[in-house]
Amino acid sequence: MQPKDRIVVALDVETPAQALSLVEQLRGLVGMFKIGKQLFTAAGPDIVRQVVGLGEKVFLDLKFHDIPNTVAAAGVEAARLGVSIFNVHSLGGSAMMRATVDAINDAAEREKFPKPLILAVTILTSHDQASLQEIGLERSIQEQVVHLAQLASASGINGVVASPREILPLRQSIDNPNFVILTPGVRPAGAALNDQKRVMTPAEAVTAGADYLVIGRPITSAENPATAAQKISEEIEQALA
Ligand code: C5P
Repeated sequence: MQPKDRIVVALDVETPAQALSLVEQLRGLVGMFKIGKQLFTAAGPDIVRQVVGLGEKVFLDLKFHDIPNTVAAAGVEAARLGVSIFNVHSLGGSAMMRATVDAINDAAEREKFPKPLILAVTILTSHDQASLQEIGLERSIQEQVVHLAQLASASGINGVVASPREILPLRQSIDNPNFVILTPGVRPAGAALNDQKRVMTPAEAVTAGADYLVIGRPITSAENPATAAQKISEEIEQALA
């Protein structure tokens, strides 16, 4: 994987035109584009097809969480759209995760499409200890994250979405060097934090063991998104050298 391939740009915009403009500006400079609930709800699966049609990789960030049959079927539809990564919510449980993994394996074999990576969300970083307790989860956040990541791994899931502070504990507790860690909350030194609280620089995140970095506003709101992306690639390259 080249340094630029680790960068996943969050297309958190309202319209397909805005999304496609960013893709045009960043083609060849980053590895993937993340389409989440905002853009998907506004623009539908067509925007995924369009970005994939341009030869770009897409991470479909819809955090599927439902009964096993429904999530498995939604996952197969995501794979049919040609996404490279999609995610599920680990709180849906091992049966939901296993059903999704099995359905993707079966459909990929039957329909001859490349298997997307399936990642799990553990505990949303917007939670704190009090809001976890409120929903009846008594463990510390870190214990809960590690527990759910282990459950995901044992269910055949390829990796997790994890905040920067969770990277090291996850690398220490998941006994699989190929377990993928994708990390949002990344800010180049000196960049605006926006609403992110606990951040790492791109260099710190890859050094800690992140495979992919989800980066939105530091690139998408930059005066020159292409230059911002190139700088981040260079920072990653230096960190891994
Ligand atoms: O603009 P920014 O770099 O903050 O965008 C980060 C992206 O990663 C957003 O799409 C956000 O929803 C997502 N994300 C996050 N923190 C998480 C999980 C996802 O910022 N814990």
